[in-house]
Amino acid sequence: MKIVVLTGAGISAESGVPTFRDADGLWEGHRVEDVATPEAYEARPSAVHRFYDARRTALSAVEPNPAHHALARLEEHLGDDLLVVTQNIDDLHERAGSRRVVHMHGELRSALCRGCRSRMPWQADLGDFPPCPRCGVSELRPDVVWFGEIPYEMDRILAAVGESDLFVSIGTSGAVYPAAGFVQVALLNGARTLELNLQPSEGTTLFHEHRHGPAGVLVPEWVASLVTA
Ligand code: APR
Repeated sequence: MKIVVLTGAGISAESGVPTFRDADGLWEGHRVEDVATPEAYEARPSAVHRFYDARRTALSAVEPNPAHHALARLEEHLGDDLLVVTQNIDDLHERAGSRRVVHMHGELRSALCRGCRSRMPWQADLGDFPPCPRCGVSELRPDVVWFGEIPYEMDRILAAVGESDLFVSIGTSGAVYPAAGFVQVALLNGARTLELNLQPSEGTTLFHEHRHGPAGVLVPEWVASLVTA
C-alpha cells in the first residue's frame, strides 16, 4: 500500500511549536503580510529576520512528540511506499527518524541565497546579514516559502499523491493551497482519504474517514493499527 501523509502545524503543537490559526497561534500575534511575503522582506528585512531567527532559536528547545515518532516507525515498515509531505518548517520529522520527508514550505534550518540561489543548511541567525558562503554576497534569506511563492517539489508531491492508495492529512487546517487541494488529487485518483486533526478541517467533507483529537494520541493509534494489520 502506498501512503502519502500531509502534515501541518498541528502535528508539532504538542512539542510546543505554535500553530498559525489556533488561539495564540502565530498569525494572531503577527500579520502575515508583515513577515511572510516577499514584499515584507523587501520593505523590512530586519523585522522578517527577527521573526524567523526567533523561531529557529526556539527549535533547540523542542523535541519530536509521539506523532512524529509514529510516522518514523511507519517508514521503517513501508520504506519507499511512505512519503511525508510537510508544510512545517521545523525539523521534528527528521529528528524523530523520518527520512522520506518533503518540506514543501522550506525549512528554518536552511538559508537561501538571493544572489546565487543556493540553498544550504543554516543554524545561526540571519539578522546580522552574514555573507553567503558560496558566492560571498550578503543576500541570505530564510529558506521558507512565503505567500505568493511556489512551494518546493510540487511535481514529486503530485506524482506521489496521484499514485497513493491512502492519503492522510494530519494537523492542518486546510486553509492554505496548494496543500489543501492534495486531498482532491488523491480522490480523483481513487485513493482513500483519512483526516487526523484536533477538529474538523476546512476540507473535512473531502475525507472518507475522520478522527478528531490530539495528534500525539491519534497518530500512534493509527500507525499501530496499520503495522499490526
Ligand atoms: N493535534 C492535532 N491537530 C492539532 C493539534 C494537535 N495537538 N493542535 C492543533 N491542531 C490542528 C488545529 O485544529 C488546526 O486545524 O492543527 C491545525 C493547524 O492549522 P494551521 O495553524 O492553519 O496550520 P497549517 O494548516 O499547518 O498552516 C498551513 O499556512 O501559515 C501558513 O505556511 C504556513 O505552513 C503553514 C500553512
